[in-house]
Amino acid sequence: MRLTLIACAVVTVVSAVSIREREQRNTTYNVVSLEGGGGGEQQDVSVIVDNKTYPLVPSEEIPILYTGSAPVATNGYSYAISSGQNNTKVEPFTRNPTNEPATPNETFGRSWNTKNISKLEPVYPHIRAMDRLETPIHIDGEIPTIYISGNQTDFDYMHENVFDEITVKANFSYISPKDTQVINNIDFELAGRSSRWFPKVSYNIKLKKDEEDELYNYRRLKLRALPNDDSYLREKLGYDVIEAVGLATTKFSFVRVVLNDQPLGLYGLIETFKDPWLQNEFAHGDENYENGPLYQGSYLSPVSSREGLISDLSYYGDNITKYELGQYKIKEDPAKGEPSFQLLMDFTKFISEAPTNTSDAVEVWQKTFDTDSFLRSMALEVLLGFSDGYAATADNYYIYYEPNSSRYIYIPSDIDMTFGSGYLNFSAMTSGNYSTFPGLYSRPLITKMLQVPGFKTQFEDMLLEITQKLFNPEKLNPHIDQLAEMIAVDVEWDKTLPRVSKNLFFAGAENQGLVDMVPSNMDRNTALDFYHRIGNPVPLEVAIEGPTGYISLPGLKEFIKIQSENTLNFFNKKNP
Ligand SMILES: *[C@@H]1O[C@H](CO)[C@@H](O)[C@H](O)[C@H]1NC(C)=O
Ligand SMILES: *[C@@H]1O[C@H](CO)[C@@H](O)[C@H](O)[C@H]1NC(C)=O
Ligand SMILES: *[C@@H]1O[C@H](CO)[C@@H](O)[C@H](O)[C@H]1NC(C)=O
Ligand SMILES: *[C@@H]1O[C@H](CO)[C@@H](O)[C@H](O)[C@H]1NC(C)=O
Ligand SMILES: *[C@@H]1O[C@H](CO)[C@@H](O)[C@H](O)[C@H]1NC(C)=O
Ligand SMILES: *[C@@H]1O[C@H](CO)[C@@H](O)[C@H](O)[C@H]1NC(C)=O
Ligand SMILES: *[C@@H]1O[C@H](CO)[C@@H](O)[C@H](O)[C@H]1NC(C)=O
Ligand SMILES: *[C@@H]1O[C@H](CO)[C@@H](O)[C@H](O)[C@H]1NC(C)=O
Ligand SMILES: *[C@@H]1O[C@H](CO)[C@@H](O)[C@H](O)[C@H]1NC(C)=O
Ligand SMILES: *[C@@H]1O[C@H](CO)[C@@H](O)[C@H](O)[C@H]1NC(C)=O
Ligand SMILES: *[C@@H]1O[C@H](CO)[C@@H](O)[C@H](O)[C@H]1NC(C)=O
Ligand SMILES: *[C@@H]1O[C@H](CO)[C@@H](O)[C@H](O)[C@H]1NC(C)=O
Repeated sequence: MRLTLIACAVVTVVSAVSIREREQRNTTYNVVSLEGGGGGEQQDVSVIVDNKTYPLVPSEEIPILYTGSAPVATNGYSYAISSGQNNTKVEPFTRNPTNEPATPNETFGRSWNTKNISKLEPVYPHIRAMDRLETPIHIDGEIPTIYISGNQTDFDYMHENVFDEITVKANFSYISPKDTQVINNIDFELAGRSSRWFPKVSYNIKLKKDEEDELYNYRRLKLRALPNDDSYLREKLGYDVIEAVGLATTKFSFVRVVLNDQPLGLYGLIETFKDPWLQNEFAHGDENYENGPLYQGSYLSPVSSREGLISDLSYYGDNITKYELGQYKIKEDPAKGEPSFQLLMDFTKFISEAPTNTSDAVEVWQKTFDTDSFLRSMALEVLLGFSDGYAATADNYYIYYEPNSSRYIYIPSDIDMTFGSGYLNFSAMTSGNYSTFPGLYSRPLITKMLQVPGFKTQFEDMLLEITQKLFNPEKLNPHIDQLAEMIAVDVEWDKTLPRVSKNLFFAGAENQGLVDMVPSNMDRNTALDFYHRIGNPVPLEVAIEGPTGYISLPGLKEFIKIQSENTLNFFNKKNP
């Protein structure tokens, strides 16, 4: 009894001292206002510490990052923003006191700075040629803010002329909980092709060619608007799955984007496959790496279309002009020699002539082509239901000639039309029988490889193994739940924001021309459904769990469940 009383007394004394100490100490509060900055409406940002308000000021370099010294909190603190009279927003939650000299760079209205997101377990080691530099460009569990500032007249002009190639000079800031980067004089422009039809548009960011101006070793980045995915998670989940399967491509992370006075919303940050991407991905960032050419398959161009040519890797005979009609692009020039389509033409010739039934067929293919990079990619096209990849549309992929190993590598990209969001016939895409996947047998490379018995077996084994180990509700749903919890508040925010561009789908939804543009493997009714739903989003939870009421948008979990069950059933029946 006596002992306990003494112990209590000691505790009381200690805590009294620590309260007094804390009262005497200040901490630096740092918070990002997403309301925009620079020249706009006056806003006053403050921190309310234990019910007392202390003003914060814009930091010197980044006007949307407010900072200031105020006492360490005893009970807690919140941030407040006032713009004009009687318009004060106070965070509807209390943050825990910190004993650090400064808070992380926090974000107004977001009660957390870093979430614990577990990584998907790898199914395969990465492909042999890959040697990716580890950098903090994508941090799991954080949503940094990117602030772009520049001449608003120029930004407006770019948004009013979405089909023109307009580059606007701008300044760039990046604020994450533990870091800030300011990079001036960047090129800012609209990205993509069909993405320009959406009211929320995607952007390219080009930093100057100067090491000092790189963002964590990257110079070329894309901000993905995610405008056709009401779950906001398809690309993130898709790239996480690709990583677990060991393929070379970009990774993906979420960012908030503010343009001058205007918040643009929640975006995906991905890497553009331009210098120094190849050296980062294949040579651990080695500046002396002499990269080969990187070719992009981009379906067709008006000119190639007139000749009936698409980027399906068909061999056209030794006529290089036919490769230069716009269906392919040279995304990155080789370090040595003149850029040309020669190595791409050589590859298509190889595909057309490679053996399928000789005893050394597998070996012959592997000597020239990283066959794993392709078979894994095709297995994922089928499982993810990649609606505009190589199989379905002969689109959204790259062929890289890696000079050190003298082999070609297949690189998947632009995976927004996945998990059932897109134009494909749902039952054909999710039958579990890969042979019904739209377009699979209309592409020379996959058709030819599946004629090689060794590759056919490997492909089927991969489909089954990836499904058993990764592509199923048990493995993916917990990851989806963590990600959904992380982005929930930002999705709500994103949906309230006015858009800078127009919904051209909506205007054209009944337009026969638009539907006729749909490539041949696509399902017309699904495409129409897709056009109609743009601008009529379903809530995040519905988009994740399903059903959404749209045939072009199954719930994310719904799609995974159906696809994995049907795949397992197919292989169980095949090899009982
Ligand atoms: C702040 O003030 C309210 C009432 O004005 C009070 O109920 C609350 O306990 C106070 N909070 C702190 C952290 O002191
Ligand atoms: C502590 O914060 C208060 C309130 O902002 C300020 O008046 C004071 O100068 C700060 N003290 C120090 C040592 O920074
Ligand atoms: C602000 O609110 C107070 C009390 O509600 C009101 O008396 C005052 O007129 C308001 N001021 C303005 C500028 O709206
Ligand atoms: C994060 O999650 C992992 C696994 O769920 C757990 O082991 C770890 O302790 C967690 N870390 C934090 C900081 O919560
Ligand atoms: C970028 O910042 C620099 C230095 O503050 C400034 O001189 C320049 O005008 C800014 N550029 C743009 C496009 O706003
Ligand atoms: C912004 O750009 C417009 C058109 O390019 C130009 O007329 C205007 O002077 C610029 N404004 C500023 C502040 O530089
Ligand atoms: C927040 O940003 C500042 C720059 O304004 C940076 O120096 C700092 O590392 C970040 N703060 C923390 C606590 O990490
Ligand atoms: C390229 O090959 C050379 C010789 O085999 C080797 O030393 C070098 O590390 C390789 N570089 C890369 C990026 O793989
Ligand atoms: C090569 O292809 C181009 C484009 O189709 C065509 O105009 C030209 O006649 C072809 N050349 C030969 C020698 O066939
Ligand atoms: C092997 O394939 C070639 C064409 O690809 C065909 O001409 C030949 O008859 C086949 N040989 C056997 C033994 O099937
Ligand atoms: C969709 O695919 C299924 C299965 O392959 C087929 O039976 C059905 O006719 C297709 N529907 C349309 C509209 O093409
Ligand atoms: C898979 O689909 C193809 C094409 O429709 C068909 O020929 C084949 O019989 C199917 N396989 C199984 C095992 O059902």
